[in-house]
Amino acid sequence: MTVPLVQRFRERLPVSSATPVVTLGEGSTPLVRAARLSERVGAEVWLKWEGANPTGSFKDRGMTVAIGKALEEGVGAVVCASTGNTSASAAAYAARAGLPALVLLPAGAVALGKVAQARAAGALLLQVDGSFDEALAAARELDARGTHALVNSLNPNRLEGQKTAAFELVEELGGPPDVLALPYGGGGNTAAYARGFREAGEGLPRLLLGEAVDRAATAASAIRIGTPVHREAVEAALAESGGTVVSLPDDEILAAWKLLAGEEGLFAEPSSAAGVAALLRSPPPAGSRVVCVVTGHGLKDPDAVDRAFPAPASVAPNPDAIATAASS
Ligand code: F0G
Repeated sequence: MTVPLVQRFRERLPVSSATPVVTLGEGSTPLVRAARLSERVGAEVWLKWEGANPTGSFKDRGMTVAIGKALEEGVGAVVCASTGNTSASAAAYAARAGLPALVLLPAGAVALGKVAQARAAGALLLQVDGSFDEALAAARELDARGTHALVNSLNPNRLEGQKTAAFELVEELGGPPDVLALPYGGGGNTAAYARGFREAGEGLPRLLLGEAVDRAATAASAIRIGTPVHREAVEAALAESGGTVVSLPDDEILAAWKLLAGEEGLFAEPSSAAGVAALLRSPPPAGSRVVCVVTGHGLKDPDAVDRAFPAPASVAPNPDAIATAASS
């Protein structure tokens, strides 16, 4: 059995014996060597495969802590605004805890699989006629009114849980990598990694953040976020690590996404490839050790595949016809 994240890192998390453990076996995700990508950029590249978390994204690391603390504090219901993955994670962990979850989604802007996950877990989903930023403002207001506890990354327990990915990297690599590449949406994950590396005590890797150049309208729907709420923490971490933000057009994000699936066998959702895209644009010094955080699973967004790849051709159940089709 996977050791629950809150047990594996117990002493470094804001939990006690009074905090219920709400777990689906999150964390302890694979660190996969990327041979072809390493060759392309002239560095030693590793992929931290966060799509292997129970609901298919890194959000589960924070949600296990946030929902456990919500139970401990006796809250009646939780709320989040989400581009999809937070809602899938919140819905699953809330279901496990027996807490009602209210999910606010920017209307028409969330990938199919993520909506399905939250629906199946029994969350109350509302499509907000507006952007993610507007949905988040509404969720914060409900939290302020006291009817719901916010489980977005503004909830400090979320970042506490997410920082554990940095602990895992330091343990597995024997120290921080030289470079950490990851997608930059609201910036919560960047802030969490920075906190984790600081607490591990060996300094920050150089941060390489991939954001969508057109934040408000990118095809990478998970990071379609106009204004990053964690911008200050992100800027502090960039300054401390000598890091940079690379602003990426959609075609560069999609090219990196295809490369991950087609050359490394790792099927992520498009947004998850933004760190890889940043690395391809801005290769590190030769021989550097790089970790790209791949944040979410490809099965969440089957429509992205439909848009990018041709549909399979039809063929008769006949070996000759199949051989002909296969060689054309
Ligand atoms: N990658 C994926 C797959 C995401 O779902 C998100 C954010 C990010 C990267 C960006 O992380 O915001 O911490 O910089 N998803 C949020 C959500 C906004 O609602 O699921 P960040």
